[in-house]
Amino acid sequence: MKGYGPATFGELNAEDYDRLHDPGTTDAAVAALAALANGGRVLELAIGTGRIALPLAARGLSVHGIDASPDMIAGLRAKPGGAAVPVTIGDIADFTVEGGPFDLVVLIFNTLFNLTTLDAQVNCFKCAAAHLASNGRFVIEAFVPDVAAFRNGQSFRVREITAQSLAFDAARHDPVSQTIEYQIVRMRDGAFSLTPLPMRYAWPSELDLMARLAGLELHERWSDWTRAPFTAESRAHISVYGRPA
Ligand SMILES: C[S@@+](CC[C@H](N)C(=O)[O-])C[C@H]1O[C@@H](n2cnc3c(N)ncnc32)[C@H](O)[C@@H]1O
Repeated sequence: MKGYGPATFGELNAEDYDRLHDPGTTDAAVAALAALANGGRVLELAIGTGRIALPLAARGLSVHGIDASPDMIAGLRAKPGGAAVPVTIGDIADFTVEGGPFDLVVLIFNTLFNLTTLDAQVNCFKCAAAHLASNGRFVIEAFVPDVAAFRNGQSFRVREITAQSLAFDAARHDPVSQTIEYQIVRMRDGAFSLTPLPMRYAWPSELDLMARLAGLELHERWSDWTRAPFTAESRAHISVYGRPA
């Protein structure tokens, strides 16, 4: 999407991120990730304002982060414990972070899909693998693509409609590149805002191939953070990768 770079998400969303982006799964995610980390070192890719990293650090884990957005990291720093988390400002498509190797590398909340090319996603897997300890785990949380949501390559969904306000999502889908140009449009009391979010989706099996290219294999796949089984009906997945046994 023209005019959209790695830091744009934070520029547009940091101020209201915690209020508007609560998936309601944080406690379960933290519990599952802490179990996988098993007391070891954690690296969160796209750490954001620390929704996951801070509770993990509060459990005594050593947590590092990387994020492209100084605005999101300012939000992390402003929270209790946020100043103590080592953070690298950089692009998760191509990174080196000191302080490893890590027992757990985490990339959740669909953020792999913020990388809008196949090459960038594959390289992210390779960089994650390069930072993993020999028995380490790389955890991805992502939605399962739903191309049926698009009609004639487009989708439209009303979020809110009142006498004074209208908010809707508009998207355009390219099935060849697996990219979606997406905007949240909000109008209230005469004010108007656009929140763009370009993404490239990938199927779970495609992520398994990216993992193989990075020298990893799938160890576990759940449909949610309670470790519910992943089935053909699952709308999301948590995939746990590691080196072949
Ligand atoms: C949906 S938020 C997720 C934040 C946090 N992981 C969480 O679960 O709350 C996406 C984060 O990815 C970061 N981000 C987006 N593209 C990035 C890139 N190419 N490199 C590094 N960070 C990126 C944004 O700045 C933002 O902090």
